[in-house]
Amino acid sequence: MRRLLLAAVLAAPLFGGFAPAQAEDTLSPLHFQSQSLLGGYDLAAVQRGFLVYQSVCASCHAASALHYRDLEALGLTAEQAGGIAAGVTLANGGHAGLEDRLKSPHLPGSAFSGAMPPDLSNIAAERPHGPRYIYGLLTGYLAAPAGTAVLPGHFYNRGFPGGQIAMPPPLKGNDVAYADGVTASLPQEAEDVSAFLAWAADPNLDARREIGVRAVLFLIFLSLLALATKRRIWRETT
Ligand code: HEC
Repeated sequence: MRRLLLAAVLAAPLFGGFAPAQAEDTLSPLHFQSQSLLGGYDLAAVQRGFLVYQSVCASCHAASALHYRDLEALGLTAEQAGGIAAGVTLANGGHAGLEDRLKSPHLPGSAFSGAMPPDLSNIAAERPHGPRYIYGLLTGYLAAPAGTAVLPGHFYNRGFPGGQIAMPPPLKGNDVAYADGVTASLPQEAEDVSAFLAWAADPNLDARREIGVRAVLFLIFLSLLALATKRRIWRETT
């Protein structure tokens, strides 16, 4: 019995968040917390990433699965989320409220050589290795290698399949001023907005993992209880 309890105690941290580092991490040296077995979101990074999305990406990309009220799940107060919404002017001239979806841009179809900026609400789930792919894309703009002819209206990007993308390099490195003292740089903004998009694609991950961990711990407890009961019953009858 004592040995079993010890095993359960030793095993508990395994279920409590000390996830092993990712073995294969080929796309970028980054390790996104949400990609580990039981890691949750770094909400400070996700909040910074929202700022980057809102200040830079939102002029071209919608994220229409999100409502302003969802920002409360990022750790913003209702007043802060309401304040962000109130600062957004809708097409009808009114201001957005907590129940509204994040405002979508309206771009002419011909704006980017015919390539439309996709809605980013779920992009981190739609692309393999989503957050790391997005990070690689945002940091992947390079001078085209000699001999590569870049198509008109396109930019060489080693993170994009085919190497040529119609999205102009969106990040400069000084696009935002973070309120939490973190210095904005191109890789930092790319990492943060990738974390935000990971959250956007799966906002309930944290809650789900917490329930899972509790369920596993509870099942371990039940098994030990069953074992102890069994031993007790058999000791009394033999
Ligand atoms: C000036 C407009 C513009 C801005 C600003 C912009 N994008 Fe884009 N983005 C595009 C266009 C156009 C495409 C489609 C490119 C293509 O298919 O060649 C695109 C495509 C993408 C894709 C999809 C790539 C794929 O795999 O299909 C991602 C992810 C993306 N952008 C992320 C971002 C992020 C994050 C930001 C903010 C940091 C941002 N974009 C800012 C125009 C923009």
